[in-house]
Amino acid sequence: MRRHFAPAGRLRGEVTPPPDKSISHRAALIGAMCDEPVTVRNFLDAADTRSTLRAVLSLGAGVDERGDELVIRGVGLHGAFEPTGGVLDVGNAGTLMRVLPGWLAGQPGGRWRLDGDESIRRRPVGRVVEPLREMGAQVEAREDGLPPLTVVAGPLQGARHELPVASAQVKSCLILAGLLASGETEIVEPLPSRDHTERMLARARAPVARDGQRVRVAAADELELDEVVVPGDLSSAAFTVAAASVVPGSHVVVRDVGLNWTRAGFLRIAERMGSVIVGEVEHPPGERAATGVEGRSGRGASVDAEPTGHLDVRAAPLEPTVVEAEEVPLAIDELPLVALLGCFAEGETVVRGAEELRVKESDRIAGVVENMRAIGADLEATGDGFVVHGPCEPRGGRFEARGDHRLAMLGAIAGLASREGVEVEGFEAVAISYPEFEGALRRLVGG
Ligand code: S3P
Repeated sequence: MRRHFAPAGRLRGEVTPPPDKSISHRAALIGAMCDEPVTVRNFLDAADTRSTLRAVLSLGAGVDERGDELVIRGVGLHGAFEPTGGVLDVGNAGTLMRVLPGWLAGQPGGRWRLDGDESIRRRPVGRVVEPLREMGAQVEAREDGLPPLTVVAGPLQGARHELPVASAQVKSCLILAGLLASGETEIVEPLPSRDHTERMLARARAPVARDGQRVRVAAADELELDEVVVPGDLSSAAFTVAAASVVPGSHVVVRDVGLNWTRAGFLRIAERMGSVIVGEVEHPPGERAATGVEGRSGRGASVDAEPTGHLDVRAAPLEPTVVEAEEVPLAIDELPLVALLGCFAEGETVVRGAEELRVKESDRIAGVVENMRAIGADLEATGDGFVVHGPCEPRGGRFEARGDHRLAMLGAIAGLASREGVEVEGFEAVAISYPEFEGALRRLVGG
């Protein structure tokens, strides 16, 4: 599907982003692991999270849709079924492919084969296979460490894992395995990554303790989760924030968005570049709030709750910046947007330490650089990121989504910010995380 995005005069109005994809995946999975039904409000209705609902249904959980509520009737921590044929189709959902094996590996019996679309088959799963095997799990990927992945249930033992890459998906997989393993499991990350699993499990009264980048997990008998209310997705909202930052005269209010500091790296980067963002963002422990973006983690916010709030974004002249490795996991899905912001800043905007972008839904370093160059921007790829030589405001042209929802959305907002408009090829990919994206954007530009 091809869509044209013409240059926008300005963006004005309010937008509520779709429900958070990461938290929706976790609500369905952790809900399925509970004994009692769990009500989930504001669950994301998109292709990726529908894959997770289909998976938990095949594993024996019930899913009742009641208006805008979803009730997950779980099978308990040790009750996952083996579906007929044993195959689980994760579609395009990397989170499902990497997190679910942690739960399945420790079941009392069963065998599952996890497979997905073309993009999933190019994404590494060796990063969960190896540490799960250290816990005694029987898990097998293809020889090159790629899906399909086979899991055979069996007893697990706790282990200590030092993760080579900061990955919330890998961490979450090992936390779930730790709940089913004898003894203690410890996971140490090289840098902090999103912590939605830890927060949700703490609320489910699971024996999960956190201390900086170290998570300790003990065996659990059962999980008990009260209602989950999914906040708006900051990664989806970031596309509107970026558009409102670069299209002159824009002023947009983003409502009810999740502001967990382990997700909010992009807001801190955009603010540093000069975007005017006013809101209440949770800040890393010990870090003071930057101007405009007010911190509240030190002011009594519960670390197990998911903070939410509103953002008020205005266009402003931008400055270049350097995004270093330690910021990368906290802005991993929004880094493509830094390329667009960099086009509107005078000087070099650099992203480094982001080689993980090469193994997302597509190679996002190549996808961002080649597409942005095709529409007239001046940037180049490095092994672990990119360099933008600004100012280099996009002229316009064709942008290939490459089956990647975030590239499709980048192409659209690059079109609004361009001189001649952008044609996004493969725009249907937005259905993975933000099916309403086009309508929301067109309302803000008044057309
Ligand atoms: C996710 C974690 C990130 C992110 C992905 C969703 C999650 O991946 O890129 O879109 O829900 O845990 P990694 O943790 O592998 O970096």
